[in-house]
Amino acid sequence: MRVAFAASSLAQTKADLLVIGVPAVSASADVAATLADLGDFAAALAAVATDEEFTGKPASTLGAPTYGRIAAGRILLVGTGPGAVADVRAAAGIAGKEARARGAKTVALAFPGATVNTVELRAAIEAFAEGNYKFDKYKSTGRKAPADALVFVGVNEDMDAVSRALALVAGQELARDLVNEPADTIYPESLAQVALGLASDRVKVVVLDETAIREKGMGGIYGVGKGSARPPRFVHMTYTPAGEAKGHIALVGKGVTFDSGGLSLKPSDGMMTMRCDMAGAAAVIGAMKAIAGLAPAVRVDAIFGAVENMPSGTSYKLGDILTMYNGKKVEIHNTDAEGRLVLADCLTYATELKPDALVDLATLTGAAVVALGDWYSAVYTRSDALAATLAARAGEAGEGVWRMPLPDLYKDKIKAEWGDIKNVGGRAGGSITAALFLAEFTTLENWAHIDIAGPAFLDSALMHYAPGGTGTMVRTLTRWVEGIGDSSAK
Ligand code: BES
Ligand code: MN
Ligand code: ZN
Repeated sequence: MRVAFAASSLAQTKADLLVIGVPAVSASADVAATLADLGDFAAALAAVATDEEFTGKPASTLGAPTYGRIAAGRILLVGTGPGAVADVRAAAGIAGKEARARGAKTVALAFPGATVNTVELRAAIEAFAEGNYKFDKYKSTGRKAPADALVFVGVNEDMDAVSRALALVAGQELARDLVNEPADTIYPESLAQVALGLASDRVKVVVLDETAIREKGMGGIYGVGKGSARPPRFVHMTYTPAGEAKGHIALVGKGVTFDSGGLSLKPSDGMMTMRCDMAGAAAVIGAMKAIAGLAPAVRVDAIFGAVENMPSGTSYKLGDILTMYNGKKVEIHNTDAEGRLVLADCLTYATELKPDALVDLATLTGAAVVALGDWYSAVYTRSDALAATLAARAGEAGEGVWRMPLPDLYKDKIKAEWGDIKNVGGRAGGSITAALFLAEFTTLENWAHIDIAGPAFLDSALMHYAPGGTGTMVRTLTRWVEGIGDSSAK
């Protein structure tokens, strides 16, 4: 998608769809003031607004054909409320969604009377692209093309903001595509191949196959992977900045390309969307793509274990005891609690790299979905500073995170009878005990685990997001890395 800036009047702006952000007003009639630039078409629109009781409430819309009275083919008014940045994001997201629904190729976006600053401009581009995204490649009919040009009217040109926003968009869209693709297309080997495809002068990618995984002693990844006809992969990507690094971040993702539950087989309903169980790895790959595009002065290591969790004659079993990469012995009580086993080895490996901070992303527990729903990811960390930083970056990125407790008090729940720990902690606080399990595999204070099981995949549309993969956390993580690269301090 191309992003441009135009100084034309709204009436003369050529576009398939002209979207105008309208701040909240007390009565529909007041809408006319925002539309003044549309000439005599403004009065006609204002009359429709009155009829439809459109007053610019956040996320409310009013669409109409223009009958050739202005240069644009169709018009959409979107309420921006008091004009806060969150609402510019929401308005642009709606614009993107509407544009896709209509197959509008050129979309003009204006916020008359408002000054759109750099932060808001980035938010608008990101959200527009997010709303414009729809995974329809397997539809034989009725497909609508995404927009190929977004033109801001009456907004100060800022090409730096554009390129930064587009780098994030590219990373997030890659993550969404990877999640949406069927598990028959994205399996451990092909997911590793996607990472290899991002290799460049600045990005090195190392892939371990099943034999190497076993020989390295990564018993978690090997154990979960051995029931599948598609062997596991371990992937380590490293982005090295051209100049001196101002920090060193490690990202880890859960890459279960399909989670059938294994021998502890899931019922069909729960299994239906389990191609999304590699959303953590997809987000990490997407973030690396965005980071490579932005080229911040930060070293970033991205690590994921890619496995398919299947029931078969070679599956790991209940009562098995896996020896993990850090030597701990894990007693298996449920083969559906596989993500923590895969992540555990990745966390130990990432810890060896001695990063300043380590963050893992995983569609880890149904309990996180029950607790926080579709919008909020659960953040677990012992570092108040890291929790605050992630919350701030998520706020800027327009993503939802919520900090959860990580209390030693519950550690007893994962004590094992035969091994050191077991892989389930019971129904109560299931997302917390999963995080406590992970904590056994890193010694880093500056570690955060983000359970993205809710936001990673939407069963139905939410805000401007189409159903399916959201690419959640790509923007939050990338902004975090970008911020470290921009500051002189670590
Ligand atoms: N991949 C699932 C968690 C999940 C559930 C992700 C819903 C996205 C949406 C995970 O591997 C799993 O099956 N967890 C079990 C753990 C239990 C067996 C301790 C769960 O949450 O039920
Ligand atoms: Mn599972
Ligand atoms: Zn899983």
